[in-house]
Amino acid sequence: MQILTKNNFNSWKIAQNLTPKNIIKKVSDSGLRGRGGANFLTGKKWELSYPAQYLIVNSDESEPGRFKDKFILEKNPELVIEGIAIAMRATNAKTTYIYLREEYKEYKKSLEKIVKKINLNVSVIVGAGSYICGEETAILNSLEGLRPESRKKPPYPSEFGLFGKKTVINNLETIARIPLVFSDSFDKDLLLFSISGDVEKPGVYELKEGIKLFELLSLVGSHDSKAIFFGASGGCIKTDKNISLSYENINKMGGFFETGIIVVDKSKSIPDMCRSIIQFFNEENCGKCVPCREGNFRLLQLFQVILKRRWKKEEFEIIKNLALHIPYGSQCALGESSTLHLQTALKYFKNEFDSLIF
Ligand SMILES: Cc1cc2nc3c(=O)[nH]c(=O)nc-3n(C[C@H](O)[C@H](O)[C@H](O)COP(=O)(O)O)c2cc1C
Ligand code: SF4
Repeated sequence: MQILTKNNFNSWKIAQNLTPKNIIKKVSDSGLRGRGGANFLTGKKWELSYPAQYLIVNSDESEPGRFKDKFILEKNPELVIEGIAIAMRATNAKTTYIYLREEYKEYKKSLEKIVKKINLNVSVIVGAGSYICGEETAILNSLEGLRPESRKKPPYPSEFGLFGKKTVINNLETIARIPLVFSDSFDKDLLLFSISGDVEKPGVYELKEGIKLFELLSLVGSHDSKAIFFGASGGCIKTDKNISLSYENINKMGGFFETGIIVVDKSKSIPDMCRSIIQFFNEENCGKCVPCREGNFRLLQLFQVILKRRWKKEEFEIIKNLALHIPYGSQCALGESSTLHLQTALKYFKNEFDSLIF
């Protein structure tokens, strides 16, 4: 795995002799894209933010099924700190906050120990345990001591970020890949997949974007799957084994490619999966806008109905309408993606829903 490279701060030594502009060019030329979900070009983000005041390393990692940052924190935290040192030089950031989800607080001490090696202003902050804090503007609120809810964009953090200053926010895996950009063997298509659910060998795998689903399923020991879910927010697809797992392809299929993959076998009910995802979004939305807060609440009420009886036709119509309309009335990507699981499940597993209607 490239992500396990023991680099001994060698790339940092090279970067110290390069200008910020040249480091940004190197990152841009490498084609590295952010691993936080939006797949945005890292070099471009740095260029837009220059000269930044703050760097935030996002390891809130609360997407269900995603645990790749945890793997890096456990196996190669040095690479993260080396990436931070290089990113601070490239973006001009004077202060870095590594934002860890509450459940990862055990890694704070080891990170702080490595930080001493680079003599830069880097602090490790432990969040209070909330999915929305991973969203790039909610994380700003959280760090400023405000209620963690997302802000309206624009302005983007690259213009008006932490305490009103230009801020770069990158996922922890993105930052860990920065030192690797300096090596000839760097491969921009390698992604860390977290795989869980109905598989014999759950875990973190470094695989190329575009890998065929059948390859992935045989690697993790899945024999009887019918669906994969891309976390809670990326929707689901049928396990047609020839599908290639790329951002573009999954997008075409109506989902959103997320490397936290949950495999579901034939013994499970897809509406039941949707019910637990709806519960998740009910608990985790920040409550700021009505369609996301009330719409997901209403969906949950409707999904609880099937624990006792079948849906009436009118109830199922409301479900379909909510699945379509909640995203349009929502201010941030949490609300926008909160019914993608349902939209895709209705598309690929309609028969399972039909069997639940009177
Ligand atoms: C609800 C929500 C939760 C998010 N959680 C995370 C997270 O835990 N970690 C992360 O890196 N990005 C998360 N993101 C994406 C961030 O907003 C942001 O795009 C990302 O940190 C940018 O890093 P990158 O450019 O390196 O991908 C989340 C977005 C949303 C809408
Ligand atoms: S869409 Fe949901 S999570 Fe986003 S701001 Fe609105 S209520 Fe909060």
